[in-house]
Amino acid sequence: MKRVFITGASSGIGKALAHAYAKRKCILGLSARREDILINVADECRDLGGTPFVYQLDVQERNNCETVAEQFKKDAGGIDCVIANAGIGGDDGLYSGSSEKINTILNTNILGVTNTLMPFIPTMKEQKIGTLVCISSVASFIPLPYHGGYASSKVAIRMIFDSWRPTLQRYNIKTVSICPGFVDTPIVKETARRFPMKSVTDAAEKFVKVIDRGRSTYVYPWPYRPLIWIARFVPEKLYNWLIKKIFHKPIT
Ligand SMILES: NC(=O)c1ccc[n+]([C@@H]2O[C@H](COP(=O)([O-])OP(=O)(O)OC[C@H]3O[C@@H](n4cnc5c(N)ncnc54)[C@H](OP(=O)(O)O)[C@@H]3O)[C@@H](O)[C@H]2O)c1
Repeated sequence: MKRVFITGASSGIGKALAHAYAKRKCILGLSARREDILINVADECRDLGGTPFVYQLDVQERNNCETVAEQFKKDAGGIDCVIANAGIGGDDGLYSGSSEKINTILNTNILGVTNTLMPFIPTMKEQKIGTLVCISSVASFIPLPYHGGYASSKVAIRMIFDSWRPTLQRYNIKTVSICPGFVDTPIVKETARRFPMKSVTDAAEKFVKVIDRGRSTYVYPWPYRPLIWIARFVPEKLYNWLIKKIFHKPIT
């Protein structure tokens, strides 16, 4: 039975991934800060055929991540796949006079990912097999106004994976960066909800297949791929003019 550890399993993509792996009879490590919600997700996973373990975890806390990783390896009898999914959105608080908002985003979305993954790597190296997954974003290719913290955090984790990939391949450790566009979850707020969104269940089913194949970088859904390609060649002045037209009000 495959052993999969997931952060941010209390909601959205993490919860849908937990359901998708439960259907495949996996042993699951479900982690997030809201333990009461995780307990419900664990019940749902059990009903679907999975074997879940629940861990309260704030990915900003390095020690907490190390302890929970050790505990999951004991509970599950090892590790096959770690999905660093936990993340927060939100704007930078550009005119707030404080770096608190942007720093919390950077801390959760970058250090939260390294805190999650690093404790599992020595075991994967030793056993010469494993899969590391990060949930980056289309925003790592197309910067959105007011969201410099979010976009840069998603570039950073994709770049960390690009950097690790050739080295970890020597130990048969796969590194999969998933880059979703808008998926219907609570992270997509107010004005951003006017954009077309994919269902979270469909997205999770697709992600599980991509993770199984060990694909390196996966942009979902496919129409974002040509858009990303085109965005590379749009002159900066035109890009800035267009983006101001589209986002004439801050998206939250
Ligand atoms: N939905 C989209 O359109 C979209 C697009 C591109 C990328 N993404 C990425 O996909 C990932 C999942 O987001 P989502 O859409 O599923 O949003 P979501 O429904 O808001 O879920 C976010 C999850 O992260 C957890 N989390 C947040 N801060 C945490 C912390 N400090 N420690 C531990 N867990 C924490 C939350 O759990 P607790 O609050 O219980 O801790 C929650 O389970 C994120 O990395 C997001 O950036 C989403």
